[in-house]
Amino acid sequence: MKFSLNVDHIATLRNARGEVQPDPVTFALMAEQYGVDGIVVHLREDRRHINERDVRLLRELITTKLDLEMAAVDEIIEIARDIQPELATIVPERRQELTTEGGVNVIDNIHHLKDTIERLHESEISVSLFIEPDINQIDAASEINADFIEIHTGNYANAVNEDEIFDELERIRIAAKHAKKLGLGVNAGHGLNYNNMKEFTAIKDIDEVSIGHAVIARAVFVGVERAIKEMIQLVSLV
Ligand code: PXP
Repeated sequence: MKFSLNVDHIATLRNARGEVQPDPVTFALMAEQYGVDGIVVHLREDRRHINERDVRLLRELITTKLDLEMAAVDEIIEIARDIQPELATIVPERRQELTTEGGVNVIDNIHHLKDTIERLHESEISVSLFIEPDINQIDAASEINADFIEIHTGNYANAVNEDEIFDELERIRIAAKHAKKLGLGVNAGHGLNYNNMKEFTAIKDIDEVSIGHAVIARAVFVGVERAIKEMIQLVSLV
């Protein structure tokens, strides 16, 4: 399993003072030196953390790969087409939310998402759809030529007792297997941390996890190098 690091929260901290430090681009370059497989940023319509300057500099400087999380809206689609990340991950976006709250409903938005994927493919950008571990949503993603899905792991991360944890892991395991059978790449993310990754790595059909908050939060206490290397070790314990 691979591990891409989301650096949005470094930008959140920077923006708290409206100044230039801490710089998410510098952080991403450090993370690459410590071995992450890719860098993830979410360019939100309200620019609450990552801004266009960050995405353009990351595009220029990183040597792994750039996964641009984005809403399927014209303005951001055009920025993506211009910047050309290796992967565009389509997420739902609501202005009031603290963070992304769930997967995109592919079935209900099939025409718009099909058109979005076509526009991104025209610019040779692979597309991932952030969705719930649901077979019907996965079938719809495959139908409209998504290259990857990213399975929303929020319900797994929030599960509190053993039965719930087992059920959520099982849903994700079945979904990942189904997606693989359809030829989709399978990523996963949201709420994954140093505790819940242990059982999660047993799911063989997941290619890559996208993790932000837990690693940034740990870096504050133990340092960037240790926080990243500890997560790399956990993710590769398969
Ligand atoms: N994947 C997606 C699609 C997300 O929106 C987020 C949150 O920005 C993550 C992964 C990472 O979640 P977390 O910060 O909880 O690790």
